[in-house]
Order: sequence, then C-alpha cells, then structure tokens
Amino acid sequence: MTRLIFLGPPGSGKGTQAQTLALHLNIPHISTGEILRQAMKEQTPLGIKAQSYVDSGELVPDELVQDLVQERLNQPDAQSGWILDGFPRKVTQAVFLEELLKETHQSGEKVVNLDAPDEVVVTRLLARGRKDDSEEIIRRRLEVYRTETAPLIDYYRDRHRLLTVNGDQTQEEVTTELHKIVASES
Ligand code: AP5
Repeated sequence: MTRLIFLGPPGSGKGTQAQTLALHLNIPHISTGEILRQAMKEQTPLGIKAQSYVDSGELVPDELVQDLVQERLNQPDAQSGWILDGFPRKVTQAVFLEELLKETHQSGEKVVNLDAPDEVVVTRLLARGRKDDSEEIIRRRLEVYRTETAPLIDYYRDRHRLLTVNGDQTQEEVTTELHKIVASES
C-alpha cells in the first residue's frame, strides 16, 4: 500500500507530480492547497477563514488544515493508500499526522522531498500566475517554507522516512524517478 507525503518548496512540482503518480497508482491525491482554494471559491466557512492567509502566502492555522486532513483520510477511497501534497507543513502538523496514523493503524508512510533552487521555482510560478503567484507573495511563501517546512526534512530523515528527488529536471525525468522509487519501496 502506498502512502506518500510530498514535501518541497512552492513550485518544486509537488502538485504536478503527485497528481500524475496518484492517477498511475489509482489512489487519491490529497492537496491541502487545492482543498483550501476550492473552499475559498465556494466561500464555505473554511474558505472564508483561510482566505487572508492563503492570499498573503502565510500558513493557515493548524486546526483548520488538520481537521480537513483528518476528515479526508477517513474517506473510504483513502483506505488503500494516498498521496498527501502540502501537508504536513510544520513540525506540529507532522506530530498530529503521526498520531492520527497511529490511531487509525496506518503506518509505513514515506516522504518525498522534491527540491529545486529558488530562482527555478520563482520563474515557474511567475509563468503560472495563480492568485498567490505575484513575486512578493512567492518570496514570502519561500520564506515560510524555509522557516516552517524545511525543518521537516530532518524530522523525517531522523525517522528514516525521507526520499529525496531532484525537482530541477524535466517533468518526465522527475516522474520516471518517482516511479522507480515507488517500485523499489513496494
Ligand atoms: P499549496 O497549494 O500547497 O502551494 P505551494 O506549496 O506553494 O505549492 P505550489 O502549488 O505553488 O507548487 P507545487 O510544488 O505544487 O508545484 P506545481 O506542481 O504546482 O498551498 C497554497 C497555500 O495554502 C499556502 O501558501 C498556505 O496558505 C495554504 N496551505 C496549504 N497547505 C497548508 C498547510 N498544511 N498548513 C497551512 N497552510 C496551508 O508546479 C508549479 C508550476 O511549475 C506549474 O506551472 C507546473 O506546470 C510547473 N512545473 C512543475 N514541475 C516542473 C518541471 N519539472 N519543470 C518545469 N516546470 C514545472
């Protein structure tokens, strides 16, 4: 059973690769960013609470994302594996997830650290142009990544869960590398 967490700076290709791999493995791709953007579009209570954080490149408060992840991982389609994209994003969220997986008797999750240099990701994101893709907000997201999310690399390395993939290659090259990793882990 495949349970993968995609870690990496904004623009490293987490969403692109997680979606392709999830389709290939026939498991859900769970992107907290996508769920939040959909909620914002529909102006649900979650979307209204998340809006100002997402628009300014800040992290949404833990309890909001933790609740949505817990609910999503309880869905029937997530019982035979999943790819989490964008969660956890800080040590407190990683601790929450560890507890949740323990309680629900799930284990063996692996973490793919997809890395790419700042200038590469900034160029990619400016070319994409999502609402939070202005240069100023991208730089803020990178800063938040460095202070809040990057410590998870050591967190998961210490737990022997970390697999590193160079995100500064063509999409096809990254996909090939990920397929190899999944094959060797299963
Ligand atoms: P989220 O949606 O997770 O955004 P992000 O981490 O900033 O990631 P991106 O979607 O920008 O990049 P990506 O790595 O997925 O790259 P992608 O494949 O899209 O989060 C958004 C916001 O939601 C956060 O700022 C926060 O406010 C909130 N949030 C979400 N989760 C949260 C949490 N757990 N806690 C608190 N708050 C949370 O690719 C980017 C572009 O590059 C695309 O155009 C793509 O086509 C292109 N590309 C991809 N790979 C390649 C390649 N190899 N070569 C060339 N181009 C490529």
